Amino acid sequence: MRNSVHDSVHTSLHTLVHMTGGGVALAIPRLVLASGNAGKLREFKRLLAPLGIEVIAQSELGIPEADEPYSTFVENALAKARNACARAKLPALADDSGVCVRALGGAPGVHSAYYAGAAKDDARNNAKLIATLSGIVDRRAHYACVLTLLRHEHDPEPIVAEGTWHGTIIDEPRGTGGFGYDPHFLDAETGLTGAELTLERKNELSHRGKAIRALIARLASEGDSPSAPLATTAAADVAPSKARSAADDR
Ligand code: IMP
Repeated sequence: MRNSVHDSVHTSLHTLVHMTGGGVALAIPRLVLASGNAGKLREFKRLLAPLGIEVIAQSELGIPEADEPYSTFVENALAKARNACARAKLPALADDSGVCVRALGGAPGVHSAYYAGAAKDDARNNAKLIATLSGIVDRRAHYACVLTLLRHEHDPEPIVAEGTWHGTIIDEPRGTGGFGYDPHFLDAETGLTGAELTLERKNELSHRGKAIRALIARLASEGDSPSAPLATTAAADVAPSKARSAADDR
């Protein structure tokens, strides 16, 4: 099962490369990921590796995280991508995501990373969520992910792609994989938590996996966008050794 899912993701990404005559891979040989979140980085590297796209975390280039003052995922994702793109002089991919709980009116939503306070602390965030849901029967929730890709700093047509993943919040954590709220997020389809799924299976089902496939499809259908050229300043101009070690990392 695990292999067949992995193969199908792999195959569909390869199909995209073929569909575009390798255009996707050639158009964006590397990009900076506007996030310092290790869990997200792991997932993006796996998702984009079949396309030959090198993913460099902004932290590897010494780029500080952007402010996220907005109340929508898309606005925050754009702010993050613009910050990383301007500083790295590379195409930038940003992800703003979170868990939205129906009984809480969509909270914690854009505040997911800092739900329990200023420091990003998964254990405290999860404890707060479970305490807040105490006595509430309706546990329906979904993860939401908005991706934005800026080809260059002044790109007037950022690619925006979205994905959602539906499930329920359970009191007792299960599993050791994933990150964030995954041990408490029970996938509706498999009956497993996000933390019990393999990385491949999570990428197949998740909000992030769906969003990245939508984004890749957009790139493939656009071919050479009128908003090209892509930023071509090599990451090496920013931090040569770090850029190389990011590639080696994979
Ligand atoms: P961001 O980095 O500001 O987009 O905040 C994202 C936060 O949402 C993370 O720190 C997690 O708390 C939560 N989150 C987003 N995606 C996931 C996921 O795939 N699993 C678990 N938690 C997630």
